[in-house]
Amino acid sequence: MIVVFLLCVAAGMPAAGQILDVCATCHANATCENKLPVGSGKVCNCKYGFVGNGRTFCQDKDECQTGAQICGQHTKCHNTYGSFYCTCLSGYNPSNNLAIFIPNDGTHCKDIDECRITGLCGEGGWCRNLEGSFECSCHVGYQVDNGTEPFHPHRDKAFCKVVDCGQPASVEDAVLVSVTGTTYGSVATWVCDEGFIWGSGHNTSVCRDNGLWSGPTMVCEAKCGPVPFLANSEVVWHNRSVVIHRCVDGYHSWRGSNISVCGSSGEWQTATLRCIAKCGPVPLLANSEVVWHNRSVVIHRCVDGYHSWRGSNISVCGSSGEWQTATLRCIEIKPAINHVHFLNERCVHWKAEKYEEDSEAYKVTYTGTRDYQRSFRDKSKQFVSSKAEQLTLCLHLLPATNYSISIIALSARFTASITINTSLTVPPVPIVYYREFETPVPTLRLQRSANTLDPISLYQVFVVPVEDIMVFDCSSPGSPDLNKFSSEYITARILIRQVGTQINFTVGDGLYYGGFYNAPLEKGRTYYIILRVVSQWKTALKSSCVLWAKVRGTSYVLMVSSLAAAASVGLVAFAILGGYSCIWLFKKT
Ligand SMILES: *[C@@H]1O[C@H](CO)[C@@H](O)[C@H](O)[C@H]1NC(C)=O
Ligand SMILES: *[C@@H]1O[C@H](CO)[C@@H](O)[C@H](O)[C@H]1NC(C)=O
Ligand SMILES: *[C@@H]1O[C@H](CO)[C@@H](O)[C@H](O)[C@H]1NC(C)=O
Ligand SMILES: *[C@@H]1O[C@H](CO)[C@@H](O)[C@H](O)[C@H]1NC(C)=O
Ligand SMILES: *[C@@H]1O[C@H](CO)[C@@H](O)[C@H](O)[C@H]1NC(C)=O
Ligand SMILES: *[C@@H]1O[C@H](CO)[C@@H](O)[C@H](O)[C@H]1NC(C)=O
Repeated sequence: MIVVFLLCVAAGMPAAGQILDVCATCHANATCENKLPVGSGKVCNCKYGFVGNGRTFCQDKDECQTGAQICGQHTKCHNTYGSFYCTCLSGYNPSNNLAIFIPNDGTHCKDIDECRITGLCGEGGWCRNLEGSFECSCHVGYQVDNGTEPFHPHRDKAFCKVVDCGQPASVEDAVLVSVTGTTYGSVATWVCDEGFIWGSGHNTSVCRDNGLWSGPTMVCEAKCGPVPFLANSEVVWHNRSVVIHRCVDGYHSWRGSNISVCGSSGEWQTATLRCIAKCGPVPLLANSEVVWHNRSVVIHRCVDGYHSWRGSNISVCGSSGEWQTATLRCIEIKPAINHVHFLNERCVHWKAEKYEEDSEAYKVTYTGTRDYQRSFRDKSKQFVSSKAEQLTLCLHLLPATNYSISIIALSARFTASITINTSLTVPPVPIVYYREFETPVPTLRLQRSANTLDPISLYQVFVVPVEDIMVFDCSSPGSPDLNKFSSEYITARILIRQVGTQINFTVGDGLYYGGFYNAPLEKGRTYYIILRVVSQWKTALKSSCVLWAKVRGTSYVLMVSSLAAAASVGLVAFAILGGYSCIWLFKKT
């Protein structure tokens, strides 16, 4: 504190001899002053800062309590004994730049601009001067820590802290290539992942004042689109530009690469992997063997002795993992025509080996030859088509012929052969005109038609004298060697191939026929004339007989024109029994 002393000098000393020394009565805190006008006495006046009568009391005057602010604005008044002084309030400075002042020299308190001191608000803060104070706010990119804006750094213990956005978030299908930091204003830059291309938006991100990264708005699009699909496979790994495929359960990879690559042209170079179903062991078919197989295809073949009949011979492993088994059927190989034999030398019979409902067409050809007839050829053919398993085909075969027969199964392309040597049959008798004659030289007639057995056939004319009991066995006299005890005889032998279709034969003309003497008939005797047809080939001989005429060597003439009439002279019976032709002639006595 600076104490101001007021130097008061007395204007006139009291005159000597004065009764009252006024001055001596002045209060200790008063001064004795000349009374005006000068020479008119002395007065006690309280000192500056005191109020009173100057003699008995001089009290301290508290200037600070005087109504008007004595120090001025933004001040604090300090009373002192007999005086006072002023100081400025915090935030203000006296204009005289001294610690205290008395306002009477014009000194006043003015606001201090605290913001002139740099760094008052700390890093990132900015200062705003206030009347008698200041406040702090944070720059963009900073935010107040431990308080709210505005703040006072000392009072609030708050400060500005730089905004930190932290690590930028990852961006789908993109890779962060650079980042300048994590604080406000930092910039992060992305580029699309391999296999992706920029689709839209910005590829940078900025740390904003709110502590968040802006963007990036970039969208990366897969260059090649969705991962290609392969049948029966799955994708085990991919990054949108490279894909690894694997066959799903139940399938195995057969061949090809299992990697798809997104090409620079933006198209997938798709994996060539093929997934094949696992069907397990190869299927087996009855009577067949496996010729070849890989794991998905099997080729079957019928074993020896069997042939494939119907269906495919390939089994294929289906996509469902099950074999689509070959439909092949192996059938035992048997001749298409079996058990060929003849029935009654007429009908050929065979067993057809064929498949179920199939119909088979047969061609039956036959050729007949004869040793005894070189020019002879009996060639013919017949067709028959049937589903039957047993076939009988009756042919028009001629007797005494060696036939060779072929049966051809046309669709099976199988030929069976058989020979049949037909036996000799009974030759047909010609048409004879039965008559009864009363003459030793009757002329008999017959009419014949050509027959296949003609080359080995001949006629024999028998003359049978009528006796008590006669038996004429047509078959027994195979040769002209007749029964010695019989009176019958052969009168002519005529080779059929040497005659025409008509014969007029006169019995008893005395000529030779075929080495036989046609002897004249005895007068008075009665004869039957029998014609016998004989066919002979080697040891086989067949014959048939017909009663040709009855002749009486007498003049007595009995005309018998019918069998009934004949019965009056003799009973004629004709029978064919078991291939033997017999004529019984009975004489009526
Ligand atoms: C006169 O004033 C002083 C201070 O300036 C004080 O100490 C003293 O007591 C006063 N004297 C009387 C008689 O009041
Ligand atoms: C992304 O950032 C890179 C710098 O890393 C720049 O070359 C490119 O042009 C930007 N834009 C796009 C769309 O990728
Ligand atoms: C098996 O062979 C067939 C026919 O040659 C063929 O088409 C198929 O691709 C093959 N499969 C495997 C798995 O080898
Ligand atoms: C048939 O063949 C047999 C045996 O070779 C032969 O003896 C016979 O004369 C032949 N028959 C005919 C009619 O050709
Ligand atoms: C039929 O005759 C032929 C000769 O022509 C002969 O080879 C064959 O064995 C004979 N067949 C029969 C069944 O006798
Ligand atoms: C057989 O006789 C009849 C009648 O007398 C005659 O018409 C016919 O021509 C004769 N036939 C032969 C082959 O001589």
